[in-house]
Amino acid sequence: MNIILLGPPGAGKGTQARFLCDERDMIQLSTGDMLREAKDSGTEMGKIVADVMARGELVTDEIVIGLIREKLKGDKKGGFIFDGFPRTLAQADALGDLLAEEGETLDSVIEMQVDDNALVARITARSTCGDCGEVYNDHTKPIPADGKCSNCGGTEFKRRADDNEESLKQRLMEYYKKTSPLIGYYYAKGQLSSVDGLGEMAAVKADIAKVLDT
Ligand code: AP5
Ligand code: MG
Repeated sequence: MNIILLGPPGAGKGTQARFLCDERDMIQLSTGDMLREAKDSGTEMGKIVADVMARGELVTDEIVIGLIREKLKGDKKGGFIFDGFPRTLAQADALGDLLAEEGETLDSVIEMQVDDNALVARITARSTCGDCGEVYNDHTKPIPADGKCSNCGGTEFKRRADDNEESLKQRLMEYYKKTSPLIGYYYAKGQLSSVDGLGEMAAVKADIAKVLDT
């Protein structure tokens, strides 16, 4: 099963993708994570995208489509979760072509609906484990009191360079201008389902499971 988690910054795409990986043996393909890895390891591409990402703008379609193309050739396990990809209509068309080349189909597109007002609070309180990427939130999922990641025991936690109010405004603008048209695109293809992303993490997880299991 191959699915897209679609939603604005802070909607909970990464959080829910990790649940799906654990429980359904799926593979999370987060273009944001791939780009941050490239940036951290100092590759040429990483240097090109660093400033664009920090400002909250989208990197080029060519770069992210190239990243996804490589990943689709690898192990498919229980299927792919596209997290933060596609983000433009050109990326959506490209994904359809790439899946077809691999003999794969897109089974579901899940839109995570959230109130914009909640996003600033969520994002400015986020941190992630530097070792395994487990996502935390100062309010809703704090780092354990012993300072160790509940998933891997790591003790280094990071905050993202684009998790500030100014970059978030730009990220939201990019979402509404370039990514939200995908809601209509996938609706017209008969592939769209929506869940309330504002509920507790477990409730959102249950709603996603309902979509995938019906
Ligand atoms: P990317 O990394 O994809 O960031 P994003 O889309 O802005 O989304 P986030 O990762 O911020 O949010 P999320 O939905 O994953 O939420 P999370 O689960 O962490 O992209 C970053 C940048 O890379 C882009 O701006 C762009 O520059 C570039 N890029 C990436 N892909 C691209 C592409 N395809 N094309 C072009 N450019 C691209 O949750 C957020 C917080 O809320 C956490 O603290 C979490 O603990 C908490 N939380 C989650 N769910 C709940 C809940 N139900 N209740 C309470 N708190 C919750
Ligand atoms: Mg994410």
